[in-house]
Amino acid sequence: MQALRDDTFQAISALMHQAIGVHFPAAKKPLVASRLGPRIQKLGLDSYEDYMALIDGHEDGQGGEFQMAVDLLTTNETYFFREPAHYALIEQEITRTRPQALSVWSAASSFGDEAYSTAMLLADLQQQGRMGSQWQILGTDISDRVLRSAVEAVYPADRLRNVSPERLRRHCLRGSGDTDGLVQIGDKLRERVRFGQLNLCLPIEDIGPFDIVLLRNVLIYFDAATKAAVVDRVLTQLRPGGLFFIGTAEGRVACSTPLQPVAPGAFRKT
Ligand SMILES: C[S@@+](CC[C@H](N)C(=O)[O-])C[C@H]1O[C@@H](n2cnc3c(N)ncnc32)[C@H](O)[C@@H]1O
Repeated sequence: MQALRDDTFQAISALMHQAIGVHFPAAKKPLVASRLGPRIQKLGLDSYEDYMALIDGHEDGQGGEFQMAVDLLTTNETYFFREPAHYALIEQEITRTRPQALSVWSAASSFGDEAYSTAMLLADLQQQGRMGSQWQILGTDISDRVLRSAVEAVYPADRLRNVSPERLRRHCLRGSGDTDGLVQIGDKLRERVRFGQLNLCLPIEDIGPFDIVLLRNVLIYFDAATKAAVVDRVLTQLRPGGLFFIGTAEGRVACSTPLQPVAPGAFRKT
């Protein structure tokens, strides 16, 4: 198969930027080549140019090759209770406000680890009488592949390394035999969490208002202008006074919606 040419890399990069906001600087050329190469060979194509011709102009198609390219080119790394200080902050907030109802949005949910971590926390707080029973969580992502997996809610045990043994016992089923080393989230939590496809770079219809929005570890893939537009768009779905989280390594949020910093990566919409 032919190597990825600079002009073709730029064309793929521009297409992804325009469709899903993800920005691939020149240094990411080897990454793009290695993620798409095996797929191109599997399809029996000779070159990245042939692949570009296949996906270009089909950005709206559901489940087609463009979606496959998105699945291959997005970075989906995640794990349970990533950045634990954020969960401690949610616990503090709930302990202070004792809400009867609570609605949470995991806005780049990947495989669902963040949404189910939050569900474990809320279920425990409800059980301890620190909040009411009307709570639910929505997880959304651009990638079809991660969303299908999130609905199944089966994980390699290592991804739950930050979950305490008691929580694991309360909320999860451990595999054995063929499924040894896998963990499934229990039905009670799964009933509370819904997943759907949503592109953060397109207008968002009314899906809120949410009390808490997690938009963590996705802004790093966007350029500055896309970051600001995505944050403002997402914040339209957060109620005033609600908590907003980004990854602690994602720097400052340059957006027009007024936010009050609460802790690293945590803000309150004013
Ligand atoms: C690294 S994961 C973050 C998962 C989780 N929030 C966490 O912090 O562990 C980033 C996710 O953002 C998703 N993503 C990238 N661009 C997107 C877009 N335009 N709209 C929605 N999701 C997007 C990717 O598919 C990927 O699953």
